Amino acid sequence: MADGSLSDAFVEFERVQKSYDGETLVVKDLNLAMPKGEFLTMLGPSGSGKTTCLMMLAGFETATHGDIRLGGVSINNIPPHKRGIGMVFQNYALFPHMTIAENLSFPLEVRKMGKSEREDKVKHALDMVEMGAFGGRRPSQLSGGQQQRVALARALVFEPELVLMDEPLGALDKQLREKMQFEITDLAHRLGITVVYVTHDQTEALTMSDRVAVFDDGRIQQLAPPDTLYEEPENSFVAQFIGENNTLEGVIKEIRGGTCLVQLDDGDLIDAKPVNVTAVGERTRVSIRPERVEFNKDRLSPDAHLLKATVKEFIYMGDIFRTRLSVAGNDDFIIKTRNAPDQVRLKPGQEIEIGWLAEDCRALDA
Ligand SMILES: Nc1ncnc2c1ncn2[C@@H]1O[C@H](COP(=O)(O)OP(=O)(O)O)[C@@H](O)[C@H]1O
Ligand SMILES: [Mg+2]
Repeated sequence: MADGSLSDAFVEFERVQKSYDGETLVVKDLNLAMPKGEFLTMLGPSGSGKTTCLMMLAGFETATHGDIRLGGVSINNIPPHKRGIGMVFQNYALFPHMTIAENLSFPLEVRKMGKSEREDKVKHALDMVEMGAFGGRRPSQLSGGQQQRVALARALVFEPELVLMDEPLGALDKQLREKMQFEITDLAHRLGITVVYVTHDQTEALTMSDRVAVFDDGRIQQLAPPDTLYEEPENSFVAQFIGENNTLEGVIKEIRGGTCLVQLDDGDLIDAKPVNVTAVGERTRVSIRPERVEFNKDRLSPDAHLLKATVKEFIYMGDIFRTRLSVAGNDDFIIKTRNAPDQVRLKPGQEIEIGWLAEDCRALDA
């Protein structure tokens, strides 16, 4: 509930549940509080309930249980068009028979705005996304990226305080996607709008967001800023889902002063930090990032536990070296090292010893 209570919350989900069929809950217990101006991303695998949450916030679906508030006011009984929320979807959803300018004018007409004010706002919104010259074209006469810009302008044209985006860049190629990622966050921050963004792409989530809510199984598994999510995952799901990660399984042998000793299944001992394990004898899956593994003993504490490893593959990637090792029965143990002038280039077949700082190796749920 810590995340569900924020005194200046603009968007709030409190104990929200959703079932479509009256039997299975696709959203199980959602608690979320966002301050005004935040860019929050819901990240999770397909089917984890992200779109459902967005639809409830927009008002196209109702929550089965719980409360959703906007600016402190429960919105359960406010129809979608009165919520003042802008929306952008993956498939743009532009009206094909209308020109770009008419597409943008439409949400203003719905709000009964006069013609000259409409024209001003449409021009301003199109200029904002650098599409000012395209007002007279139809959607089919624009590229995918241009259509997505127009969809963005249409969501912003009535100056909503809150904008919801559901995988808006999913249909674009990589280069355009990266450019639009920057444009969207830049625009959101400049205009001070609050954004709830949905994606299944972790890089997109990490690079765009103030905070990321990692969804799985109808619940938020962790809600944190990108660096915290990557460096301090609170459970195995988040550790695996965000970034590249090595895992080893074993049993907690000893917990002492913020660190623990884990006995791997083949008998080796390693140092770790107990995160969501509490007792000796408990099974754990430890998580260690490839860039935090060290094979130069001089850089480790003298009493660090070491593991024997066999080099399987050395991959030169330009800026970094990616080396695959066999460690404690895991043939997919990856380490990453920076391409520095004095950096060692390991060779397949080489036997080495690896270790790490206890705080970089997180003992999580098995
Ligand atoms: N309109 C609907 N009717 C019935 N089930 C639905 C409906 N929309 C989504 N679902 C189901 O709810 C679950 C969550 O879906 P969704 O919110 O779309 O997930 P995501 O956006 O994370 O992929 C899925 O199991 C999906 O099949
Ligand atoms: Mg979805």
